[in-house]
Amino acid sequence: MSAIKNVTLVGGSGRLGSFVLDKLLASNKFNVQVLKRAGSSSTFAAGTKVVEADFEDVESLKAAFQGQDAVASLIGDAGVLSQKLMVDAAVAAGVKRFLPSNFGSNMSNPNSRKLPVFGRKIIVEDYLIEKSKTTELTYSFVYVGGFTDFALRNKVIMDFSKYTPTIFNGGDSQFSTTSMPTVGDAVVGVLSHPAETRNRPVYVSEIILTQNQLLAVAKKIAPGKPWAPVNVDLDVVVAGAKERFAQGIHDLPTVIPILLKSIVDPEYGVKFTENDNELLGIKGKTEEYLVELITPLIN
Ligand SMILES: NC(=O)c1ccc[n+]([C@@H]2O[C@H](COP(=O)([O-])OP(=O)(O)OC[C@H]3O[C@@H](n4cnc5c(N)ncnc54)[C@H](OP(=O)(O)O)[C@@H]3O)[C@@H](O)[C@H]2O)c1
Repeated sequence: MSAIKNVTLVGGSGRLGSFVLDKLLASNKFNVQVLKRAGSSSTFAAGTKVVEADFEDVESLKAAFQGQDAVASLIGDAGVLSQKLMVDAAVAAGVKRFLPSNFGSNMSNPNSRKLPVFGRKIIVEDYLIEKSKTTELTYSFVYVGGFTDFALRNKVIMDFSKYTPTIFNGGDSQFSTTSMPTVGDAVVGVLSHPAETRNRPVYVSEIILTQNQLLAVAKKIAPGKPWAPVNVDLDVVVAGAKERFAQGIHDLPTVIPILLKSIVDPEYGVKFTENDNELLGIKGKTEEYLVELITPLIN
């Protein structure tokens, strides 16, 4: 497959997309354009090429994708389904590679695929797989686990603030995580290796963690604090969350335990022992990085 040069980034203004944009530009390997929704108030650094499209109009999207080799979508969860039309537009415009907005749990795992929170992302994955069989468009699904930085700062994996972090199912499950700037490196790596990453899941694992390891790091940083972890059965929490989700309640307290299960539970293929780090040039992180992240999170 020929090299990828022209890259469109969708959602480049977002939480993750802004890191990916920085890394794409810093690599100096691509001509990057950001595609934003018509009417979006997103702003970008001077000199960034920005185009707009109506995300509900295939012709508008096709015009934006003309001459592009790849589309990397970092669209937020609310916009996930609009990627179907983007795939149609990418096919029509002759784009070679599409990276849908996955960037999290291992959705190739059969248990993850059944989780209700991933329904729309699975629809897009399946659509891309179908299109790749009959058109020139190829895909890469990038799985990175939870975001190390975001998930710790937002108390998703563990909350250190009151010294009573919740430990799920004993806390020894090993799981892969990747911080947001490293996801940016991974996107650069995938687009730099189109043949090797063609039509397959790509696994990135910046570090392999356990909750008990995180607690040990916190205790090392602040040994004098009254640490009193609380053991919780994640399955009980998730059963309640799934019930609420089925009733149409999709708020964060409902969605987060389900996402967490897909990030930490060994039954969900969460430890990416076999991964694409080497191919993509991803360097692992050490405990030093965890100390850096966790220190400001302890009062
Ligand atoms: N693994 C993890 O721990 C983890 C954590 C968080 C997120 N993620 C994943 O990372 C990806 C990006 O998430 P994010 O949190 O960075 O996204 P985000 O900040 O919520 O949104 C990214 C961009 O998408 C566009 N957008 C937002 N809502 C939209 C809508 N309704 N329709 C169309 N476009 C919309 C906006 O760009 P414009 O206004 O410029 O068009 C926005 O800046 C998602 O797949 C998400 O599930 C993973």
